Amino acid sequence: MAKVSIIGAGNVGATAAQRLVEKNLCDVVLLDIVEGLPQGKALDMAHSAHVLGLTNRIIGTNDYTDTAGSDIVIITSGAARKPGMTRDQLVEINAGIVGDVVKKAVAVSDSAILLVVTNPVDVMTYLAIKKSGFAPKRVIGLSGILDSSRLAYLIASELNVPVTDVTAYVWGEHGQQMVVIPRLNTVRGVSITKMLPDDVISALVKRTIGSGAEVVNLLKTSSAYYAPSAAVVRMAEAVLTDSQEVLPCAVYLDGEYGLNDVVCGVPAKLGKGGLEGIVELELTPDENKQLADSAGSIKRMIVDAGMA
Ligand code: LAC
Repeated sequence: MAKVSIIGAGNVGATAAQRLVEKNLCDVVLLDIVEGLPQGKALDMAHSAHVLGLTNRIIGTNDYTDTAGSDIVIITSGAARKPGMTRDQLVEINAGIVGDVVKKAVAVSDSAILLVVTNPVDVMTYLAIKKSGFAPKRVIGLSGILDSSRLAYLIASELNVPVTDVTAYVWGEHGQQMVVIPRLNTVRGVSITKMLPDDVISALVKRTIGSGAEVVNLLKTSSAYYAPSAAVVRMAEAVLTDSQEVLPCAVYLDGEYGLNDVVCGVPAKLGKGGLEGIVELELTPDENKQLADSAGSIKRMIVDAGMA
């Protein structure tokens, strides 16, 4: 069976572990530096295997050797936002943590695909590429699947249609400079620009950008984890099953969309090699500028953090 290791047994990591285990697609290793935490959570999940009819295994550990030979390593370690914080304010603290985690994880899993969740995720994905020494296509960040799912929820609620009828696309930074190109968002093939007035679309986009903060402000002591874990598990599943799905993800750009040496959310084809290709759509000059501005803001963070 394939093996997926999840680094960080906090809310996102543990919920992702649960979702993955329940798919019965792979063995799961949950690792954290806190003694007992990953072991306790994993044991609790293992106790559900009989009830759920699962044949795969889950273990918790503090030791990276237990993650050896992973097909996928999901990195969730790091500080999460508190109310009033932006994701960008986490760069300094999380860069140290992610750098360390990546080095330890890849030392024992040199052919893994890395999926990065830690915020600010575009910058952390760039850092993970540098620290791992992996080809950039093997390191992918979570962003657009989560943001698109949030936008799809809002579109479905506004139009009173099933959320499964909505195709939503959010690109760019997983932050204030998320990019939404309204014409590309559809309900069974019909663009929302034909179904909703501009001011309503703008309000939905604004709420999507603030959705993570909306959850933080409600929870107060945690950031979101049900939707983020669902989104990263979707990415892991695409890699494990070699699905070749096109999903918006934070990936390394090497000239695509005219952008270089930056990680930014774009439509990415996922499969067993990680990033199997980037879909380049024809954008209007305005849309291109929006994406370039968004990537520019990520690049500034990368440069300011001394990673480039
Ligand atoms: C959020 C975090 C995962 O958007 O950035 O909830």
